[in-house]
Amino acid sequence: MAARDEHEKVVVARAAAALVEDGTLVALGSGSTVARVAAALGERGSRARFAVASPATEAAAQGAGLTVVDAADHDRYALAIDGADEVAPDGWAIKGGGGAHTRERILIAAADRFLCVVGASKLVPRLTRAVPLELQPFGLAATLAHLPGAVLRDAPPTADGGVLADLPADLTDPRALAARLDATPGVVDHGLFAPELVRELLIADGDAVEHRHR
Ligand code: 5RP
Repeated sequence: MAARDEHEKVVVARAAAALVEDGTLVALGSGSTVARVAAALGERGSRARFAVASPATEAAAQGAGLTVVDAADHDRYALAIDGADEVAPDGWAIKGGGGAHTRERILIAAADRFLCVVGASKLVPRLTRAVPLELQPFGLAATLAHLPGAVLRDAPPTADGGVLADLPADLTDPRALAARLDATPGVVDHGLFAPELVRELLIADGDAVEHRHR
């Protein structure tokens, strides 16, 4: 990873941690940026409580001394903090590079605010990445038949037993593609996140941090 990208993850993580209020219930997504958010929260001695989207985030949060709660017990969060792989100017984002997008969407959809934390290199003129998919293992061949071009990811099953794949796709109309994937039997979830969800961006560019509201 480029040193600048790594530096920006730390910078944006510290900025995000500063926005977390003690006593609140916060959802943390997954990925290397979120791991740095957990570390920054630990450094601040945060007294918030955290639901986490992945075993990796749970380990990072516990390692940082944070209080982790069971997402099964909570239906609302004051704030969700998560990264992204790409964010386009119209607010569409691709997530799921780490394969936790199903759980991340559940937490983000249950949050009053979603703070999307990225380095400037994640801001792209248009989405280009293959779309991450989580698929049911049952009937996998039949599901893949609906998804020509999808490539199974060389990765262990998700925490919920799902199979990860990536779909290179025409992304000129992400809403139409998201609707098609939502309607495809066997697709548990995909990594296309709509602008309605991605309203607040915290962007690190070198040492500078911009808090952008869309
Ligand atoms: C995981 C995600 C991550 O937020 C996304 O992949 C960005 O990861 P990183 O912070 O490591 O760059 O969606 O499912």
